[in-house]
Amino acid sequence: MSLHLGDIAPDFEQDSSEGRIKFHEWLGNSWGILFSHPADFTPVCTTELGLTAKLKGEFEKRGVKAIALSVDPVESHKQWINDINETQNTVVNFPILADGDRKVSELYDMIHPNANATLTVRSLFIIDPAKKVRLIITYPASAGRNFNEVLRVIDSLQLTDSHSVATPGNWQDGDDVVIVPSLQDPEIIKQKFPKGYKAIKPYLRITPQPNK
Ligand code: BEZ
Repeated sequence: MSLHLGDIAPDFEQDSSEGRIKFHEWLGNSWGILFSHPADFTPVCTTELGLTAKLKGEFEKRGVKAIALSVDPVESHKQWINDINETQNTVVNFPILADGDRKVSELYDMIHPNANATLTVRSLFIIDPAKKVRLIITYPASAGRNFNEVLRVIDSLQLTDSHSVATPGNWQDGDDVVIVPSLQDPEIIKQKFPKGYKAIKPYLRITPQPNK
């Protein structure tokens, strides 16, 4: 099944390194990142899972729960977690789904047969508290993902959900933002952006980040 932004993230029940998971129930009211990797005991995946564990505090600050997936079994995940903890100097603190029957991989279109017939590629989904899919990225097996970029997009989504702004290219939390083009009423603009804004073009209006 092919998923699109704004779709409800499909619910599922699957085994994991932390026991059976009912996905929507497990998410509760949190944001979520669900990400697949090709296989256990592989070097790039080992670094990615170590990074995710080390970013626990950053995810928690933003109300985000992380969950990984590969098609390897629970026992393999548990042994590999020991290696990740040892080599990445961390403690894996999130579940890894054991998707041996490809149930979740198929629901989320994580197997790309022309890349690999049986293994999942590096898919990543950001899911909001309403269970809507807000970001989909797909990386090849050979390229590890940038988890600082994942945090950056979560910051952008959480900011833009609550203010009438969007975030420019390469934006980082604290940088100036742009006022959404649909907002035109001068009185409402004044109320929403008391620090003012600079109109470089009528459609390009820069303002300090409103929640800072
Ligand atoms: C890795 O995670 O290191 C990896 C997995 C599949 C192919 C290449 C690298």
